[in-house]
Amino acid sequence: MLTPNLTVNAEGHLCIGGADTVVLAKTHGTPLYVMDENMIRENCRGFARVISEEYGGRGLICFASKALSCKELYRIVDSEGLGADVVSGGELYTALKAGMPAEKIVMHGNSKSNAELQMAVTHGVGRIVCDNLPELDRLNRIAEASGKTVNIMLRIKPGIDAHTHDFVKTGQIDSKFGFALETGEAMAAVKAASLYPNLNLVGLHCHIGSQILDTAPFAEAARVMLGLMNKIRTEIGVTLPELNLGGGPGIRYTEADDPMPFSEIVRAILGAVKETCAELSFPEPFVLFEPGRSIVGGAGLTLYTVMAKKTIPDIRTYVLVDGGMCDNPRYALYQSRYEAMIANKAAEPRSERVTIGGKCCESGDLIGEDMPLQPAAEDDILAVLATGAYNYSMASNYNRNPRAELVMVRDDAARTVVKRETYEDIVRNDI
Ligand code: LLP
Repeated sequence: MLTPNLTVNAEGHLCIGGADTVVLAKTHGTPLYVMDENMIRENCRGFARVISEEYGGRGLICFASKALSCKELYRIVDSEGLGADVVSGGELYTALKAGMPAEKIVMHGNSKSNAELQMAVTHGVGRIVCDNLPELDRLNRIAEASGKTVNIMLRIKPGIDAHTHDFVKTGQIDSKFGFALETGEAMAAVKAASLYPNLNLVGLHCHIGSQILDTAPFAEAARVMLGLMNKIRTEIGVTLPELNLGGGPGIRYTEADDPMPFSEIVRAILGAVKETCAELSFPEPFVLFEPGRSIVGGAGLTLYTVMAKKTIPDIRTYVLVDGGMCDNPRYALYQSRYEAMIANKAAEPRSERVTIGGKCCESGDLIGEDMPLQPAAEDDILAVLATGAYNYSMASNYNRNPRAELVMVRDDAARTVVKRETYEDIVRNDI
């Protein structure tokens, strides 16, 4: 099985966290997102454990809620001691509504509106990660008008491209995010930020990419960022106390994937931080990490009902389901590969190769192509695995399909944490 929380019961049904997915599909309907709470909690603890073992607990893990934002997720990660990374007023609003303490929230965004900045200032968000010079100016004005001083970090492009086969350092990454290091932009931003009376620059941030399977680019990013912090100390006499190294550890999507466990990645990063600080005689900073996918990705799956099977002789067989790119746009967007199985035939071999087609009025609406699957028939339940990250959070109402329900499984019991949308929800804002 792809992840250890998936099992097959005596009836040959796929179970997640001990709960029978076929029963879940019948009880809650499909499409249905199912999340395993114990696995989410274990992942949170796994991150905290490494920081405690390797770094004396001098850090904060902020769950990157873009991977999965709903009130219950914020409650779960908060109860495990994590904070949250939010990237919009909507994510911030959800986190606050769920009771996440504002000081544990890191606010991102390369194009934050004044209203979003005001919201962050009003609620006392712990750290606002500033992306560009106009934002610094706007934030200072908003903070001043509110009579507050706000903690900020600066988003830096460390010049590391982690998405090549062998990661490379480029002169300057073509990215819309943050301040470039090589051009001197980063140093200029530090100088500018230090001059604003209502901004308190506490540290630097970088995020080198997502679904990264190896430790090397992360460790290199830590070294580069500490080099910059040392340069800031030398050139302008400011010793920044915090370093936020973003998210990015990859997960197992297919049986062929062999990602480095996130615990090893964090261990390697912290090793590089300690080593570099010793070399530079730089005080070890408080560290922040923003994992999203590695906390929730493997903890979720999506259930669909098979509506039809269509074989085009000598070409391919389509298995057509009652969801698609509206609940999982990742194949359409990135050709991301998934494993799937027929949940009610989980003990049988996956003897066929099929294309899973969604219900949207678009040829590219596929969950995947050339996927091994048990022989499927109408009314079977199809499970697509490792859909816990960037599925519900990227869902849309394309074709006016209502967004699916999300259930959380814990110790065999399931509870709804996001209700299925209704048609009335869909027309709510129509005049
Ligand atoms: N921090 C920052 C500043 C980020 O931009 C991201 C992801 C994360 C943390 C979390 O990264 P993670 O640990 O989840 O890799 N929609 C794409 C993923 C986009 C990720 C964007 N930023 C997907 O479905 O693969």
